[in-house]
Amino acid sequence: MTNLQIKNKFQKELSGLYPKEEISSFFYLLAEEYLQIRRVDIALDPDKKVSEQDQNKFLSALSRLMEEEPVQYIIGVSYFYDLPFKVNNKVLIPRPETEQLVDWIIKISKTKNEKVKILDIGTGSGCIAVSLAKNLPETEVWALDISENAISIAKENAKINQTDIHFIKTDILTTKNIVERFDVIVSNPPYVRELEKEKMKNNVLKFEPELALFVEDEDPLLFYKKIADFAKDHLIAGGELFFEINQYQAENTLKMLKNKGFQNIELRKDIFGNDRMIRAVYSTSAKGIAD
Ligand SMILES: C[S@@+](CC[C@H](N)C(=O)[O-])C[C@H]1O[C@@H](n2cnc3c(N)ncnc32)[C@H](O)[C@@H]1O
Repeated sequence: MTNLQIKNKFQKELSGLYPKEEISSFFYLLAEEYLQIRRVDIALDPDKKVSEQDQNKFLSALSRLMEEEPVQYIIGVSYFYDLPFKVNNKVLIPRPETEQLVDWIIKISKTKNEKVKILDIGTGSGCIAVSLAKNLPETEVWALDISENAISIAKENAKINQTDIHFIKTDILTTKNIVERFDVIVSNPPYVRELEKEKMKNNVLKFEPELALFVEDEDPLLFYKKIADFAKDHLIAGGELFFEINQYQAENTLKMLKNKGFQNIELRKDIFGNDRMIRAVYSTSAKGIAD
């Protein structure tokens, strides 16, 4: 088969499942990965023959796409904040909304001109921790996750991107043995309620780890409350807490942080116009406030 014949086969087989442009972008991504050629090379030489071995790679990717597996898991890489991250189905695929959260932290930290210490809670692929460490080279970055598999992928990603991060495997809901203090704590914890499942796409539901996504309907702020309490014990005075949030829980999350005594609380929207991230400052006067 030629480049063009494979491309046409992708369009034909996947047409009921994905929009035309998305199918093209899958094909070009795979061509870059398997043939090390770019879109322009294919346009210039559409009739170039693809070896049998490479054809098989495309056909295997095609059947995985037909099962709605995310293309990032098929090629094993996802790009976040312009950096490569190894991914598999044990870690969430980094999202563009989360890049905005990272960007916010980087911009604020750069204005401070101090060597800061940051903790990323629920690090997954390590995308937040690694991109912060890479862009704030003076910073000491720590990252934790409950999942051994996630920690091991995050460690690989720290290495791939030449960053030095302190990793801890622990459950943030019960942990008692972290003695460090931080200038910044950031988290994108599980925040999707079970009741939101019906609005979600198959590629997420069938392939991304449940542990990274879901929280019980009855207690949607479980992680946020625990992390806010943890932050009161582990942030320096004036330290900052950053959250990625569930767009349907913005009001409740703001109220919870206010009730716990956090100050200068700011809510921002993501590129899609949804309430998506919060920054809150910890002042020592919040210490005695229970909730
Ligand atoms: C929404 S994902 C975020 C992953 C990554 N930080 C990102 O932004 O793409 C949430 C992460 O929290 C971790 N997690 C879930 N429950 C946890 C717990 N009790 N303690 C620590 N981490 C937990 C999951 O393993 C997952 O990696």
